[in-house]
Amino acid sequence: MTAQVIKGKELAHKLREEMAEEVTQLKEKGIIPHLTVIILGDDPASKSYVNGKKKASAETGISSDIIEMPLSASEQELLDKIDILNNDDHVHGILVQLPLPEHINEQHIIEAISPDKDVDGFHPSSIGKMLTGNDTFLPCTPLGILTMLQSYGIQIEGKHAVIIGRSNIVGKPVGQLLLNEHATVTYCHSRTKDMTAFTKSADILIVAMGKPNVIRSEHIKEGSAIIDVGINRKDDGKLTGDVDFQSVSEKASYITPVPKGVGPMTITMLLQNTIKAAKGLSG
Ligand code: GUN
Repeated sequence: MTAQVIKGKELAHKLREEMAEEVTQLKEKGIIPHLTVIILGDDPASKSYVNGKKKASAETGISSDIIEMPLSASEQELLDKIDILNNDDHVHGILVQLPLPEHINEQHIIEAISPDKDVDGFHPSSIGKMLTGNDTFLPCTPLGILTMLQSYGIQIEGKHAVIIGRSNIVGKPVGQLLLNEHATVTYCHSRTKDMTAFTKSADILIVAMGKPNVIRSEHIKEGSAIIDVGINRKDDGKLTGDVDFQSVSEKASYITPVPKGVGPMTITMLLQNTIKAAKGLSG
């Protein structure tokens, strides 16, 4: 079997075109969707992600601004900034780029963002609503993965979905979204014994380990759908996923590439959440 490649970049492009039309309609009603991103320090990877968000927003007609604060900024200074944005009616979405420096308690920051502007879907209120299957902002990478599976007509109901990785940003919520869609979900992580026993029984395998090319054809089930969330930089500067694309694509039925797979979908879902916020639909 040769897997069909799930072209995240193409799907993201199509969705952004549809969103651009929706933004035009909102502007006719006097609503200009606006996203504010806060970044501390000048870590090149974080800056590159943030600039990507700004560029994608502009392409979709969403207005955005980036607030740059020094790495030495205090937790209170950041909280004060969030308070101003929470009370600014022109700002629909607020995103604080993670990770934050160690002297700042990440959870305090996440909880300070108004749930109505929580376009990351990280606030406990958003997470609680997601857990109970109520409408809310859903975290961008998990929502991007769900959208890819649904767009390619991959059945989720009744299937065994195995998630490798249990981060708050990807692993935990993507399992929850698939459970909400009636999958049977197994989480694997660094303390899981005999992980291959699980991955080999997965109809849908979501890999978010952060280690290059660790999932190979011998670890997967014939005909399964493989979603690679890994972004690893090789010595030559090129990006590679957690999945060995070459061998796995000969056995799976669907596979996402890296780059041009999950990554473009994540940013697209951020734009979608910003439009949702502008419409006042936080759930
Ligand atoms: N850092 C890496 N991914 C993300 C994300 O999805 N949201 C935020 N706020 N920071 C991140």
